[in-house]
Amino acid sequence: MDPFTMDPFIELDGVEKVFDVRRKTGFLKRERHRVRAVDSISFTVARGEMVGYIGPNGAGKSTTIKMLTGILTPSGGRLRVAGIDPSRERKRLAHRMGVVFGQRTTLWWDLPLIDSYKLMHRMYRIPDARYRENLDRMVELLDLGELLAVPVRQLSLGQRMRGDIAAALLHDPEVLYLDEPTIGLDVISKTKVRDFLRQLNAERATTVLLTTHDLQDIEQLCSRVMVIDHGRLVYDGALAGLHEAGESERTLVVDLERELPPIEAPPPARVVRVEGPRQWLAFPASASAAGLVARIAAEYPLVDLSVREPDIEAVIAKMYAERADRAVS
Ligand SMILES: Nc1ncnc2c1ncn2[C@@H]1O[C@H](COP(=O)(O)OP(=O)(O)OP(=O)(O)O)[C@@H](O)[C@H]1O
Ligand SMILES: [Mg+2]
Repeated sequence: MDPFTMDPFIELDGVEKVFDVRRKTGFLKRERHRVRAVDSISFTVARGEMVGYIGPNGAGKSTTIKMLTGILTPSGGRLRVAGIDPSRERKRLAHRMGVVFGQRTTLWWDLPLIDSYKLMHRMYRIPDARYRENLDRMVELLDLGELLAVPVRQLSLGQRMRGDIAAALLHDPEVLYLDEPTIGLDVISKTKVRDFLRQLNAERATTVLLTTHDLQDIEQLCSRVMVIDHGRLVYDGALAGLHEAGESERTLVVDLERELPPIEAPPPARVVRVEGPRQWLAFPASASAAGLVARIAAEYPLVDLSVREPDIEAVIAKMYAERADRAVS
């Protein structure tokens, strides 16, 4: 591989974040309680990678992003972005990163969108030509033309999100952190945002770390996904590999000439549903369908068949649930 792309741009080594929370347990009584939001996480991200960072609610995703941006200081471990310790040199890093928190805006609520951009132009000391070029491009790609004169408070959620993404990119950051950038967006807005991110990553090699609960974001954008649960990294690899890790199954849908008793399939393949002449057989996603199909075709009056790929949502749900079971027992 090209040594440039091998250069770890983001590096976490045993990073931890512990919150001390005080809970009121009675009159004048408070109990101290520690929350290990991020628990010894290690990973690296190379320059130009687009990585999904997923996990159930409270897993520690936003906390990780806040440490990466320097908003929070790690309680332990080592964290570097472009060789810089974000919490120590937040300002220096600010010029090189962009961040979008889907849950809240970085734009000035009462000002027209364009005024927020003008303020950023000055704040980040973006050269005039560069600013104009970037703004034009964002306006075109994110369809912001009509919105520039509108005060942010009057924008719809999807419009505001597009406005926020543009704001995060006006200063040409090398890395973009997105914390749920498609939350609450309709299908068309989601597509717009995803198309834009894909193009940004392809053209500018911007490194992207994306947190989301919408697995379609990951499927469409990220070749690598990291799964975090209870502050720990439980999976780091290709999206396809999650199917194996989750022991997922594919489904063979078989249409027979007539209604028949359940097909006797070689285990672990088995009939999971019968509806008239149609039968559904589950088999491991890692296995080939060919043998199963040949056997059924030889022994049964087959009219038609199709194979359904495992649903990634189901795989992830199963993974979270299994881990939750283990944590309880
Ligand atoms: N400032 C804080 N003080 C105390 N506890 C916190 C703080 N911020 C986060 N936590 C706790 O840390 C844990 C991880 O929270 P975090 O916001 O990182 O989760 P998340 O993965 O982003 O979840 P979600 O999918 O709901 O956004 C949670 O238990 C949360 O309650
Ligand atoms: Mg979060």
